[in-house]
Amino acid sequence: MAITKAKSIKGEITIPGDKSISHRGVMFGAISEGITELTGFLDGADCRSTIGCFRAMGIDITQEADHVIIHGKGLNGLSQPSAMLDVGNSGTTTRLISGILAGQDFVSSLNGDESIQKRPMGRIITPLTEMGAYIKSIKDNGCAPLEIGGSKLSAIHYNSPVASAQVKSCVLLAGLYADGTTSVTEPVVSRNHTELMLSGFGADITSKGLTASIVGGPKLIGQKIAVPGDISSAAYFIVAGLICDNADLLIKNVNTNPTRAGIIKVAQAMGGNIELLNERIISGEPVADIHVTTSHLHGCEVSGDIIPTLIDELPVIAVMAACADGTTTIKDAAELKVKESDRIATVTENLKNMGCDITPTDDGMIIVGGKPLHGTTVNTYLDHRIAMSFAIAGLVADGETTFDNEACCSISYPDFFKTIGAIVNR
Ligand code: S3P
Repeated sequence: MAITKAKSIKGEITIPGDKSISHRGVMFGAISEGITELTGFLDGADCRSTIGCFRAMGIDITQEADHVIIHGKGLNGLSQPSAMLDVGNSGTTTRLISGILAGQDFVSSLNGDESIQKRPMGRIITPLTEMGAYIKSIKDNGCAPLEIGGSKLSAIHYNSPVASAQVKSCVLLAGLYADGTTSVTEPVVSRNHTELMLSGFGADITSKGLTASIVGGPKLIGQKIAVPGDISSAAYFIVAGLICDNADLLIKNVNTNPTRAGIIKVAQAMGGNIELLNERIISGEPVADIHVTTSHLHGCEVSGDIIPTLIDELPVIAVMAACADGTTTIKDAAELKVKESDRIATVTENLKNMGCDITPTDDGMIIVGGKPLHGTTVNTYLDHRIAMSFAIAGLVADGETTFDNEACCSISYPDFFKTIGAIVNR
């Protein structure tokens, strides 16, 4: 695949389903009673890993593209898998499923690809161990492969040192299997899909400020869920519509949950022409169509409480900053170092290769925008968000932008390059 400069970008696109919500729909459906039906499911590699894990524990799941039916067996209906569960590249699968496995009366183990085996799992081992769970990093390095399960859990109050929906959700899911109320307090609020969706399945779950709490032992009932489009996937096209010449793009059916929608605020702060149309609620989540047109952008500071609401979008926000006049400073985002790649390093390396003035810092980066970008071969480090962010940079760069690996997009957006082809005129 070679990306070249776009003369114009026009059209209406629909974004594939939200990855976080798709994972949760499968997991919560599996531990509920009766049928859960998901429409708009993200048929990407990460969510397929979640389906594979629950099938391996005896849950009947049928999938036809974005339509998934889960025959749930209730809180205690999972059976012991006969082999190690394969979580693939998915941090969400790993951390959330660990909370569920911690409450089972069988021992299981899980592992994933090279990237997963480097991601920190101490952040879930600590609270789950505090709840009385048996959970062990098999290589004793705080990472997967993990062995989990077979213990009676106690409710705890956990003060999480990181703002992480994966950690919060892991503890809350383990809390389903503990007597009493389990709660998690975060330093900054992270995405709240677990709280919204589990409440729809019948859990007694509440949020107040920085704390989410759940009461153990509920009866969960299968639900019908329409999964909205993923704002993390829409982000590439939001940025394309703002930075490319002659752009006018309508991005339909996007989840605009405030715990996810920080990129909209940043685009506005940078002077972007971005408007939300047809705002509505679908399956308990706010949804809108997003209209963007070519904009004259200026740099801004991205820091503090907004960071968890745009953590996955920071690579493409860095691309937007490279195309804006002046300096953009990204701070308080050390979590970028422990994503599918070290995204402070991988964004810096690739933007530098394109001719951008960028300096990495301990918790973010400083980008002096406005210099012309040049095509390069993107070093993706097999990180889907790096591949897609730099494909967008390629739409404004001179020459050709190519990729050491473009197949990694299938983790979260298998048709990404098809969508680019549908809207870009060269
Ligand atoms: C996710 C939470 C985020 C995000 C990830 C999906 C989720 O991770 O980066 O892509 O679905 O809960 P953290 O919660 O660890 O920040």
